[in-house]
Amino acid sequence: MRSRACSSAPWLRPPGPRLGELIPERSTKVREAPVQLKRAWTTSDPLVSVRGLKTWFPVASGVLQRTTAHVHAVDGVDLDIKKGETLGLVGESGCGKSTLGRTIIRLLDPTAGTIQFKGEDITHQRGAALRAHRRDMAMIFQDPYASLDPRQTVGDIVGEPLDIHHLASGPSRRERIRELLDVVGLNPGFVDRYPHEFSGGQRQRIGIARALAVDPTFIVCDEPISALDVSIQAQIINLLEKLQSKFDLTYLFIAHDLSSARSWRLRPVSSSTGVRATLTRVLCFRRFRSLIRSSSERGSA
Ligand SMILES: Nc1ncnc2c1ncn2[C@@H]1O[C@H](COP(=O)(O)OP(=O)(O)OP(=O)(O)O)[C@@H](O)[C@H]1O
Ligand SMILES: [Mg+2]
Repeated sequence: MRSRACSSAPWLRPPGPRLGELIPERSTKVREAPVQLKRAWTTSDPLVSVRGLKTWFPVASGVLQRTTAHVHAVDGVDLDIKKGETLGLVGESGCGKSTLGRTIIRLLDPTAGTIQFKGEDITHQRGAALRAHRRDMAMIFQDPYASLDPRQTVGDIVGEPLDIHHLASGPSRRERIRELLDVVGLNPGFVDRYPHEFSGGQRQRIGIARALAVDPTFIVCDEPISALDVSIQAQIINLLEKLQSKFDLTYLFIAHDLSSARSWRLRPVSSSTGVRATLTRVLCFRRFRSLIRSSSERGSA
C-alpha cells in the first residue's frame, strides 16, 4: 500500500534510492587538476628576460623623514638577452643604467615587473634559491678605485665570492685565486698585494677576476672602461672578449657613450628587443627619472 502511494505520488517517497535500485558507485578517483607542464629552459630561449621592470628609490623629507616622493631610476624596462651575446645598454649619466644592472642580478629589489633568469622567475626569490642563481651572475663595477676595499689584499678580494658560496678553501682556494689572476693577465704572485699598489687597468682586472670567481654565465659590465685611459680601454675590451669566448659568457655591457659600446661587437639591431629598443628605453626613462613625483601625483600621472 505504501509502495503504491509512493509510486503514484513521488513527492511522498522517502529521500534516497528505491529498494532494488542500483546505487551508482561513487567515483573514488580524485579528479586531477590539469598539469601545467613548464617547458624546460633551452639555450635558444633568452638567458635573461625582463618585463616592465621598475626600481624606484624613496625620497624622505621633513622632520619625520616621511617618504614624500620617489626617484624613478628604472621605470618600465623590457629586454631579452640571449645566451652568449653582449647587449649594449647606453644612456647618459644618471639615467639609471647601474640601477637596472644591479636590479637584474638582484643586488637591488625591484619595485615592479619581472626578471627571469634561465626561464625561472627570480623577481622575488630569497635565501638559498637566490644564492644559487647569484652564483650564475656577477658584476664588474664602474669604478675600479671605489669598488675594491683598500684594506683587503688581492687574495681576499678575489677569494671573497669563493668564501660566500663555499667554492674552495685552504690550498685549493689559494690555487684558484692564482689561476684567476693568471686568466685576467695579472701575475699570480700579486696575491698578497693591496689595491693601491696597482694601476687603474690592473685594478679593473682584479675586479674582473673577482667576477669570474663564481664561474658565472652572465656578467653585468657596468661601464668597465669609462674610468680608464684610452689605451687601457682597448686592452680591457679585448680581455672581456677573450673571456667571453673562453668561458661562454653573456654580457650586459653598460656604457654612457655610443663610441665605447660600438667598440664592442653588439648584436645586430634587428629584433624589437634589440639594442635600439634598449637605447630608446634608456633615453626614455631618463625623462621619467628627472621627474620626482610625490605619491599623490603618481596616481594621476
Ligand atoms: N640607493 C639609491 N638611493 C636613492 N637614489 C638612488 C640610489 N641609487 C641611485 N639613485 C638615483 O637613481 C638615479 C640613477 O642612478 P644610476 O647610478 O643608476 O645612474 P647611471 O645611469 O648608472 O649613471 P652613471 O652613468 O653616472 O653611472 C640617479 O638619480 C641616482 O641619484
Ligand atoms: Mg652607473
